[in-house]
Amino acid sequence: KFRIDKYKDGLNYLINGQVLTWQDKNAPVISPILLQDKGRTYAPVLGEYPLLDNHESWQALQAAKKAYDAGNGLWPQMPVSERLNHLQQFVQSIKPLKEIFSLLEMWEIGKSYLDCRDEFDRTIKYIGDTIDNLMLLEEEGDLINRVDKYIFQVRRRPLGVCLCMGPFNYPLNETFAMLIPALIMGNTAIVKLPRYGSLCTLPLLEAFARSFPPGVINIINGEGEKIIGPVIRSGEIDLLGFIGSVSVATHLINQHPGNNRLRTILGLEAKNPAFILAEADIDLAAKECALGALEFNGQRCTAIKHIWVHESIVDKFLEALCREIDSLKTGMPWEENVNITPLPEEGKVEWLGKLVEDAVSKGAAVINKGGGEIAGNLFYPAVLFPVNNNMKIYDIEQFGPVIPVSSFSRLEELVNYMITSDYGQQASIFSQSGDKAGLLIDILANQVARINLNAQCRRGPDELPFTGRKDSAEGTLSISDALRTFSISSLVVANEYGRDLFLDTLKKGKSKFLKI
Ligand code: G3H
Repeated sequence: KFRIDKYKDGLNYLINGQVLTWQDKNAPVISPILLQDKGRTYAPVLGEYPLLDNHESWQALQAAKKAYDAGNGLWPQMPVSERLNHLQQFVQSIKPLKEIFSLLEMWEIGKSYLDCRDEFDRTIKYIGDTIDNLMLLEEEGDLINRVDKYIFQVRRRPLGVCLCMGPFNYPLNETFAMLIPALIMGNTAIVKLPRYGSLCTLPLLEAFARSFPPGVINIINGEGEKIIGPVIRSGEIDLLGFIGSVSVATHLINQHPGNNRLRTILGLEAKNPAFILAEADIDLAAKECALGALEFNGQRCTAIKHIWVHESIVDKFLEALCREIDSLKTGMPWEENVNITPLPEEGKVEWLGKLVEDAVSKGAAVINKGGGEIAGNLFYPAVLFPVNNNMKIYDIEQFGPVIPVSSFSRLEELVNYMITSDYGQQASIFSQSGDKAGLLIDILANQVARINLNAQCRRGPDELPFTGRKDSAEGTLSISDALRTFSISSLVVANEYGRDLFLDTLKKGKSKFLKI
């Protein structure tokens, strides 16, 4: 049921409304899932991805620029209701692609089949909710407002050409959570697909080509440095939507010649802690922490990546945590209720093994049965305790199934940890009493962007603001915030001298902006 043939259209890309097939250099897409056949173990080749040249990325930039046409293009000038029609047509055309998307994503990045399907559904819902929110924003924009002697109308307008680069862990959802608001606000876009998890987006290319005017959306693939470098150095990118590492984000932004003109929307690194206070419900905390740290093998920016436990309950908590991890199922991503699956990044299991070795050499122990064992690309979760700030795992974002645990005696230790951390996305507090939790909430509210009570960290539901401090993020995403993040307020205003002109223009209906 879950078998797939080698994907034939891996070399496709989209420029200026045309799905093209790359005939030159390419690289194989190899699954992290190892198969056996007649005693031979091998990683199936799922297809190829194109190593486009900078000529192609330049064409994509020219197409996006032409479609935007300095804000005078068909798309940025199109009434919102018409833009919505294009988006609705797009959603209808991609709905039947759920199965092929899910199978490709599962084989490419090892995400469980059900989670792949959920990601697809979540993205479809995200688009639908975006449409509803945009209609509300439009109604707001239709209002004629007054302040003192001024009469004015405010609408959200696009910013220009958006370069959009999503991550491998949610190649559809996280890319679309930037791309869809960028497009619907009237920007045009170039999408550079991630190194892992790019095949699964390709079945959608035809739908993009059919649903949007040429050049509005361009999708390319290849080595980032080669194809994106020249595009960003041209200074012609107006918005950068990027989810990935701090170093790549900094490298990209620094290449833009006028980076004060570049609007950046970034989802970067995180090291979300869970704080288990003395009054916590230990079983609940252990369950949430195990899932929070290990959902999709810990490959979520929102995963719990360090657990701090009050010293009075640390033994009981560790016991409960190991029990929870023991109960998780390890296996292949098509198996029902599977939690731990193969990791897609080349060299990742070895890298995680080294993180564990480093911690162990500095005094931590792997305290769960089988923790850190490796089989092919599977890495069995390792709980490390006690972890201190001499160990690499204390600072580095593991983005995988390694769970560092430290104990604390005073609240100040937690505060110090947060203040000295480079990251500030989210935190979880586990407690059954509001006394200490209240104190910690007030401190954390100025350190992170979301505090989860008795629950793991999460981005969803997508209606909630998703952002971070320090090296974790820039700009806020949520269904409604993203529409603002990818646009700018523009207003027409008149005092007593311009009032007649304002009203005359309204009456004559000659402006697409100034209208009711
Ligand atoms: O990496 C973050 C993803 O968007 C996962 O979303 O935290 O709501 O599961 P979530």
